[in-house]
Amino acid sequence: MTDADRPEDPSPVTAEVRPDDGDLDASLRPKCLDDFIGQPRVREQLHLVLQGATQRGGTPDHILLSGPPGLGKTSMAMIIAAELGSALRLTSGPALERAGDLAAMLSNLVEGDVLFIDEIHRIARPAEEMLYLAMEDFRVDVVVGKGPGATSIPLDVAPFTLVGATTRSGALTGPLRDRFGFTAHMDFYDPQELQRILTRSAGILGVRIDADAAAEIAGRSRGTPRIANRLLRRVRDYAEVRADGRVTLAVARAALDVYDVDELGLDRLDRAVLGALVRSFGGGPVGVSTLAVAVGEEPATVEEVCEPYLVRAGMIARTPRGRVATAAAWERLGLVPPPDLAVGGIAVRVNEPQRTLFDES
Ligand SMILES: Nc1ncnc2c1ncn2[C@@H]1O[C@H](COP(=O)(O)OP(=O)(O)OP(=O)(O)O)[C@@H](O)[C@H]1O
Ligand SMILES: [Mg+2]
Repeated sequence: MTDADRPEDPSPVTAEVRPDDGDLDASLRPKCLDDFIGQPRVREQLHLVLQGATQRGGTPDHILLSGPPGLGKTSMAMIIAAELGSALRLTSGPALERAGDLAAMLSNLVEGDVLFIDEIHRIARPAEEMLYLAMEDFRVDVVVGKGPGATSIPLDVAPFTLVGATTRSGALTGPLRDRFGFTAHMDFYDPQELQRILTRSAGILGVRIDADAAAEIAGRSRGTPRIANRLLRRVRDYAEVRADGRVTLAVARAALDVYDVDELGLDRLDRAVLGALVRSFGGGPVGVSTLAVAVGEEPATVEEVCEPYLVRAGMIARTPRGRVATAAAWERLGLVPPPDLAVGGIAVRVNEPQRTLFDES
């Protein structure tokens, strides 16, 4: 493969949706709670919330799904509606710019509907305030007119369940967060779960895959089902073009080499960032912008795309004075870490729970 026929962003290991994921995402989504692999706690909790409401014959509490991109929040929202036998109305925070947009959405709801607001942390303030009342009292006040003559007309909203999804639950305002009866925190998947997801996806796509090959892809998927499914598709292409279509361990490894995804799921940019941090800056601390210049990238890309995973993989630590390479990073590059590396609370930072790391970004 030459550089010219690579897609614009050659890295297949970004967790965000990409335009070419569309069909794939839809066909591979789990359709019911039993289909959903991993997140055992969330599944059990949700099962209880949904079952409880069904037995009482009411609508369940509003549900907030939080977690990094590509872990199954949208899939779970669809499953919630399916399990309740309800219709899913779909919108997103950025789409609700004016309160009127939300009022229109709410007034069209039928009793029992599930209203899914993706990226709910990006909802505009007036719409958010309208949402408070709708969530609590199933009512909205629509303001008609302007200035002193403006009147507010109360409108009833059919009892519904709001499902909000957010990659940054820390960015949600307190009042909004408090109105959710239940918050499900989605966490990264372990390699065994990803392997089961890959095996399921291969079955749906009609791809023959060996168990060890699925395990290999799982290990490079950054704990993220969306990445696992995307890598599977790339590996399938390779298997069909360069081999007999069957995904063996050797085929999987060769394909992932072509796409520059290493054993840890690091891509070329991740490795460049690590390399610059260790080789050019002696392991840090160094600011993100300086680091970004060194690898010829935008600071935002380094901070939002590379860093979360490098931190999670225990390669980089965020400290008040800048980014620091951990011993694992030095070793990964085949170098001996300096003897004074363990100071500065680095180990503590690395082992912090993920949620905090993502919420503050
Ligand atoms: N538990 C799972 N089992 C099987 N496949 C899954 C699972 N979770 C996610 N997927 C797959 O990963 C893809 C991405 O999931 P989804 O779109 O639900 O993530 P998301 O959390 O909504 O991401 P974003 O934050 O970017 O909106 C889905 O199309 C689905 O194929
Ligand atoms: Mg989503």
